[in-house]
Amino acid sequence: MTVAEVRLDIENLCRTHQGAGRASLGRLLGGMAEVDSSGAWVLTHDGRRFLNFGGHGVYLLGHRHPAVTAAVRQQLETHPMSTRVFFEPVGIEAAAELASVTPPGLDLVHFVNSGTEATEAALKLARAHGKTELVTTNRGFHGKTLGALSVTARRLYQDPFEPLLPGVTVVPYGDPVALEAALAAVAGRGCVIVEPVQGEGGVIVPPPDYLATAARLCRRYDSLLIVDEIQTGLGRLGSWWGVDTAGMVPDLLLVGKVLSGGVVPVSAVVTTADIYKPFAKDPYLHSSTFAASPIACSAALAAVRVVRDEDIVSRAATLGEELLDAVRGVTSHVETERVEVRGRGLLIGIEFDEPGLVGELYLNLVDRGVLVNHSLNSPTVLRLTPPAILSPAELEFFNTVFAEAVAETVSK
Ligand SMILES: Cc1ncc(COP(=O)(O)O)c(C=O)c1O
Repeated sequence: MTVAEVRLDIENLCRTHQGAGRASLGRLLGGMAEVDSSGAWVLTHDGRRFLNFGGHGVYLLGHRHPAVTAAVRQQLETHPMSTRVFFEPVGIEAAAELASVTPPGLDLVHFVNSGTEATEAALKLARAHGKTELVTTNRGFHGKTLGALSVTARRLYQDPFEPLLPGVTVVPYGDPVALEAALAAVAGRGCVIVEPVQGEGGVIVPPPDYLATAARLCRRYDSLLIVDEIQTGLGRLGSWWGVDTAGMVPDLLLVGKVLSGGVVPVSAVVTTADIYKPFAKDPYLHSSTFAASPIACSAALAAVRVVRDEDIVSRAATLGEELLDAVRGVTSHVETERVEVRGRGLLIGIEFDEPGLVGELYLNLVDRGVLVNHSLNSPTVLRLTPPAILSPAELEFFNTVFAEAVAETVSK
């Protein structure tokens, strides 16, 4: 939609067709309509520009990365959707490319359209192997469709939709003792789902040996381990995967967000040949009309290549350290009991002692031209998920604006 095409009554139209909540949110955030994006920037209909440190973790490659856009455009002009009859070369190549960068043994790739569908597919694979008892972590976020919601541990999102899946145990994140107790109680039937760093839970970094211990415990109690890297994977943490630094390989790995290249929605489950057997035997056992469409897979293929060819992983690591230092520098002027900064790579959380401050700072940053994330499972945490393709000037712009916004909202 071009600037000229944005309707004057857009807020009313939104209220009528998308609901009052969405319309109020749009108004609260200034009433602007986003119409254009490129690199680290989003443009609104009134000509304003916003540096995007938000976007829910999608834009590690920025908006409309040229290589991804070119691949998608070419696919669009040849064969965007398939018949599901013949071999689908782009999907097959994208699967091979993704498997080439995932940990060894994870060779089977099942593409879907969203993160929550990746969780669903993984939970169904676990069930097909008799692992019906799910163990998830407090504040863990794995999506909002019914199965995924059952392991997304926040009552606010769960309560209106009960009853959810039975047999779910919630354990504190980062606590191997609680995890062992939960697995021992369901030995032979358990399946753990966990993030390497909790994103929506408020950027919680677990103890260094947590994931390796989880993998060991899953073996001991004959259970499966799903590691959800939808937010952390493909370089976000300054490593290809969060599991890399943990020195373990999960049974199932969930990928999303960055896989889209910031251009077409696509997510995936990557697993071993053994675990994939039920889906391999019958491709219609778990299918979806639009899943693994050539257009989505062209984005995924290009995105994985960009992460590798443009050294996105080490850029995220270096930039992440610079940003973490800068954010800590700014917040060092705030009373220590009011704020805590933590993170890894380009996933950084700033926790305040009250949710109101997060809202105030968020709006102040928007006013000054910077977008950030709130955290769905932790209202006291402001989350930064900037692109790895930031220029020094863009980083400097953020640092200046962030310092001004903190001075005005938190330190006053
Ligand atoms: C770790 C994790 N898992 C799953 C999801 C759900 O992904 P989607 O919103 O694409 O359904 C998210 C989304 O934020 C996420 O951060």
